[in-house]
Amino acid sequence: MKILYVLALVDSTAVLGFSSGGKYAFARSTRPGTPLFSTATGQQAKYATPERYVTDHPNNNVPPHIAALVGRGLHERADHPLGIIRAKINEYFSSLPEDYQTFDAEDPIVTCTQCFDDLRIPPEHPGRSPSDTYYISEDTLLRTHTSAHQSHHLRDGYDAFLCAGDVYRRDEIDSSHYPAFHQLEGVKLFPAESVAGADGLKGEAWIASPECALIAKDLKATLEGLMDHLFGPVEKRWADDYFPFTEPSFECEILYQGEWLEVLGCGVVHAEVLDMAGRGDRRGWAFGLGLERLAMVLFGIPDIRLFWTDDERFSSQFKSGEITTFKSYSKFPPVFKDISMWVPETYVENDFFEMARGIAGDLVEETKLIDEFTNKKTGKTSKAYRITYRSMDRSLTNDEIDAMQDQLRDDVVKLGLEVR
Ligand code: DAH
Repeated sequence: MKILYVLALVDSTAVLGFSSGGKYAFARSTRPGTPLFSTATGQQAKYATPERYVTDHPNNNVPPHIAALVGRGLHERADHPLGIIRAKINEYFSSLPEDYQTFDAEDPIVTCTQCFDDLRIPPEHPGRSPSDTYYISEDTLLRTHTSAHQSHHLRDGYDAFLCAGDVYRRDEIDSSHYPAFHQLEGVKLFPAESVAGADGLKGEAWIASPECALIAKDLKATLEGLMDHLFGPVEKRWADDYFPFTEPSFECEILYQGEWLEVLGCGVVHAEVLDMAGRGDRRGWAFGLGLERLAMVLFGIPDIRLFWTDDERFSSQFKSGEITTFKSYSKFPPVFKDISMWVPETYVENDFFEMARGIAGDLVEETKLIDEFTNKKTGKTSKAYRITYRSMDRSLTNDEIDAMQDQLRDDVVKLGLEVR
């Protein structure tokens, strides 16, 4: 299931007073002449320390294969598709009158307060559950979205900023879902005097105010400009949406090669989010977008796993500042393996997907539910999955995949599953 932060309609129990620690540490200006890629290895290298993420805390659910992805800094690499898009977005915002600070190398470990409470995401929201989120401890986790950094930058006094980073979600596996991906967040506040007329307005009254209309209009114009900058002149459409941290909230779609494609979520920052960040005298907008999503479309990259590959045939195709169409190198044949199991009532699908990835890593291309039934007499439920194994750089042998599938069949017992 794809969890967006759209489901929660209940107020959160916000905790005030979290301080961001490395104040101004990674702030940079988007002004021309400020290099986006400061070093060849990137600022993220310091986070490439798996022992920070896999701990013996009872709440820790980060497997080694996820910890190994942290600190790669793909969005900082000038000649990686994610870095190329990141730079292009930066180029666009540099052309605008505001001075957007960029924060591209923040610690991917954040607190529940930063990731959820500060954003009015309530305690019972499914996105907070350990079946969806990688927890380091009770109250620290691998950020599930870059929105986790909004509030502390606001608290630190920034009025306009962009923040890109790797985010982590336990999820299904297929060509467009990977447990680690990248997002970019943007926030802009308006001067207090330009929104003073709407002081204290909330809910419907706020939404109906001219101040809200002004911010929403600026937001849409800014993002439409960004889409044109990335895709060339392109048709867009807006739909209402819901996020706990914006009011009102919107989603933007673009018409690309005949298909409407959802590209970002955004809205006018919720007054309570600003209040909690100590910026209650201001109003403004925020947006968040997925970099892989854009890169897959712009570069024609068919499989999300490719972003993480070290294969020369991938990396040699991309050059700083250029959007070029990816040429698939030979696709190796897949190996399919099915597994049917009785599942307990407490079964969490993501645990099974993760186990498969823990054993076979990126050789798992897809896990798909192919059959499901409940035995009327016993009340037991059976699920059958087809796992597609495929390597992006070599042919797999049946024997090696059999060995992995056998291990999976043995290991699922630990999840309370019973192979049929
Ligand atoms: N954080 C949201 C997500 O991951 C995306 C998002 C929506 C970010 C609206 C925003 C926003 O800043 O205003 O689903």
